[in-house]
Amino acid sequence: MCGIIGYSGHRPAVPLLVEGLHRLEYRGYDSSGVAFEQAGKLQVVKAAGKLSALESKLASNAFHLATAGIGHTRWATHGLPVERNAHPHLSQDGKLAIIHNGIIENFQEIKDELLAKGHTFLSDTDTEVLAHLIGEEREHSPNLREAFARALRRAHGAYAVVLLSPEEPGIIYAARMAAPLLMGVGVGECFVASDIPAFLPYTREVVFLEDGELARIEGSKWEVFSLADLSPVEKTVNHVPWDMQAAAKDGYKHFMLKEIMEQPRVVTDCLSGRLVGQGDSLRVQLGELDAFPVPSRLHIVACGTSYNAGLWGRELLENIGGIPTDLDIASEFRYRDPILRPDEAVMVISQSGETADTLAALRLAKEKGCKVIGLCNVVGSSIAREADVVVYTQAGPEISVASTKAMCSQMTLIALMAAYYGQRRTDAFDPSASVKMLNALAALPAQLAAVLPTMQERAAQLALRFASSRSFFYLGRGQCHALALEGALKLKELSYIHAEGYASGEMKHGPIALIDPQFPTLALALDDALFPKVKSNIQEVLARQGRVIALVQEKDGVAPELGVEEQWVLPEAHPVAASFLALPALQLFSYCVADYLGKDVDQPRNLAKSVTVE
Ligand code: G6P
Repeated sequence: MCGIIGYSGHRPAVPLLVEGLHRLEYRGYDSSGVAFEQAGKLQVVKAAGKLSALESKLASNAFHLATAGIGHTRWATHGLPVERNAHPHLSQDGKLAIIHNGIIENFQEIKDELLAKGHTFLSDTDTEVLAHLIGEEREHSPNLREAFARALRRAHGAYAVVLLSPEEPGIIYAARMAAPLLMGVGVGECFVASDIPAFLPYTREVVFLEDGELARIEGSKWEVFSLADLSPVEKTVNHVPWDMQAAAKDGYKHFMLKEIMEQPRVVTDCLSGRLVGQGDSLRVQLGELDAFPVPSRLHIVACGTSYNAGLWGRELLENIGGIPTDLDIASEFRYRDPILRPDEAVMVISQSGETADTLAALRLAKEKGCKVIGLCNVVGSSIAREADVVVYTQAGPEISVASTKAMCSQMTLIALMAAYYGQRRTDAFDPSASVKMLNALAALPAQLAAVLPTMQERAAQLALRFASSRSFFYLGRGQCHALALEGALKLKELSYIHAEGYASGEMKHGPIALIDPQFPTLALALDDALFPKVKSNIQEVLARQGRVIALVQEKDGVAPELGVEEQWVLPEAHPVAASFLALPALQLFSYCVADYLGKDVDQPRNLAKSVTVE
């Protein structure tokens, strides 16, 4: 779950590498480093901490001659986040350097073997072991490419690796197995990176490397080989339409805030081209799914916020889509030998399309003969490429580590899928509920855009009042249960305040013991069928001197009076649309608390945007 970039071309490499690392920093940021060649020798500069530490070191280095190099920003898997563990790592003789994203699972076995041969290691990383192994293989191989391939064939696990050696000046090698890696092909230059934004200012021509492929890059010349036998592999160059504007902060203080505020646009983009007709004849078209049989059961598998989106959508898929739906956390699903039948489908939800556990779940489902639908944001990601069919969420690049607009897009698409499957049902399906929901979704972008500015003000007021809390409950029932989980997740990951999301009805089975005046509750009490039940649950909290913020909705212009410390009033809306109004309220509250407490909002400690290790 690190960010890697390599360059070979005609420009000074180091500034390009550092610039690319800035755009990859969301993938990891506990240390960083670069390697480049200078006067026939490898130079390695690395630093613990944020990229600015590396930049300060580089400021005193003369590196202007190098036109090839590799750079890395790390999220620790093996070894502490200290300078000696930062990448690049060198072989025993110091003649080659590599950067790596992933985990070499059999590194200890290889390390023991190399130690017995007299190797000495300077770091605690699996990556350094791989660098030494390549160096060792070089002694028995006709060339560097062969040595690289031989070493990788011995490595088990996940890797995206880029190699640089003055033995072949101006050339970089790259290979991938179960970790993201792609090439950007420019004019007289070529990049290799974990993600497209790393090289987006220079080229939008992209070659997606597949597992088991190895690339040799020399300026504008690039070739791809099979890792297994080094036979050439034909690749196509794809044009990616993104621009950098889409990945910049747009004047907001943080990417997270920008991404929360983008949600009206996200809903518009998700609906565009997918709704046909008007009023009572409004219908969904999801051409991607047309050739795919209606599954007899849908298994949703995802992690983190994507899982919460799936939980939110289950009720719609069942009630409107008519499809029995169950749900799993990917890291559990992949190891529990689930029963999957050929007429069922697995839907993996992933913003990045690279989450290791979700990808493994996808592969397991395919192995078991089950079709896989990928609900993904990143075009060309591993999940998008391996799923039998992909429905893109079209949220645009999400930079903030804490996911916001991606969940909004996933919820929109799941609601559309529910309506779509409803339309394909052959039993006596009453379309009225579906049509009402679709009309509510069509009206949602304007409704959301209208409430977001005042919502931000209200969130800031409440943040000020509650930021000193050490713990928080989030309660909700039905679809609001999923939102409660998401609200708690956002608060804990951004502000490091302990927060628990709970189904309100479960409170009495334990958690209520924790309620006291120091343990506030954010209760989702929206105007849906379960409102009377939630109201009773709020009373139970109040009876134990709990402080409550209730997220409520107006009905016929009047907000309910619940007798709580703070009411946060949302406008009247269809129950499905109401979830989309509550979501940014929860996101903004967490954002404002974290910002008020001075936390690193876009890059919370210990987290990574894309979790490509299990
Ligand atoms: C990480 C991110 C979360 C995200 C989760 C799943 O934990 O920090 O924001 O929800 O991974 O990611 P995915 O890309 O599969 O949706």
